[in-house]
Amino acid sequence: LDIYRRELVDVQGIPLFWSIAEEWSQVETFESRPDDLLIATYPKSGTTWVSEILDLIYNNGDVEKCKRDAIYKRVPFMELIVPGIENGVEDLKNMKPPRLVKTHLPVQLLPSSFWKNNCKMVYVARNAKDVAVSYYYFYQMAKLHPEPGTWEEFLDKFMTGKVSFGSWYDHVKGWWEKRNDYRIHYLFYEDMKEDPKHEIQKLLKFLDKELSEETVDKIIYHSSFDVMKQNPSTNYTTVPDFDMDHSVSPFMRKGISGDWKNQFTVAQYERFEDDYEKKMKRSTLRFRSEI
Ligand code: PPS
Repeated sequence: LDIYRRELVDVQGIPLFWSIAEEWSQVETFESRPDDLLIATYPKSGTTWVSEILDLIYNNGDVEKCKRDAIYKRVPFMELIVPGIENGVEDLKNMKPPRLVKTHLPVQLLPSSFWKNNCKMVYVARNAKDVAVSYYYFYQMAKLHPEPGTWEEFLDKFMTGKVSFGSWYDHVKGWWEKRNDYRIHYLFYEDMKEDPKHEIQKLLKFLDKELSEETVDKIIYHSSFDVMKQNPSTNYTTVPDFDMDHSVSPFMRKGISGDWKNQFTVAQYERFEDDYEKKMKRSTLRFRSEI
């Protein structure tokens, strides 16, 4: 059953799902609250992982409480509007504060009320090549996306920003540039993989919150890839089949750094690195070089 128009439509130059574009005024006028915490990411950068960690922190590590609903209901995806099926804006209106809010919007498209309210924001960035690979598999399993074509074709679209939510390069740089002007905690997927404890402690500091070491250890365990993959409230298996087909590729796919090495040819790698250097050289943003 293919109920979706698998089409992207530009909003201020950024390709978005057609239904988001059609309902853009609802998104643009979204009313944040000063106690909202925004989780902003380019797709496939660790959104679900950090969302689960933050919900666990908000609930003082109460694992059972965090199974009260699916992650996409506990942390609504603000701009996701699919008429008759999903409406992140409505879900958030009906939610008790303090709210955790997910967005994939590039910084220039964020509803202005978040800046006016000076909301705290957590931005998660992941290295470009792993994002491209993860996105390629997600494009195939999540039916809202257009057909990705071959890997070679998809990689071209990724490099030219002709994918849902636009250019990865502009997204990570755009949020990076804003990080010192607002209350933005910018973190990296690769650092979370290497030292989750350290990253969770930094998150707690950002949130002015204290938790015992025992609770932090519990949070690390329950937000680990293997545990989240088995947990129906975090692994997206509760999404209807017509929306996501996990037999094509599971949402919780591999959860590692460096999987691009299994996907890129040498020629693709060289072309990618050359183009990357051009797009990123004027920014101070740097990703770990060993990935
Ligand atoms: S989405 O659809 O944009 O919100 O997806 P997002 O959650 O940002 O990214 C999905 C990728 O994150 C991996 N993932 C994790 N990695 C490590 N640890 C944990 N706990 C975890 N949870 C999700 C997920 O597997 C996707 O990456 P790939 O590389 O495809 O496995």
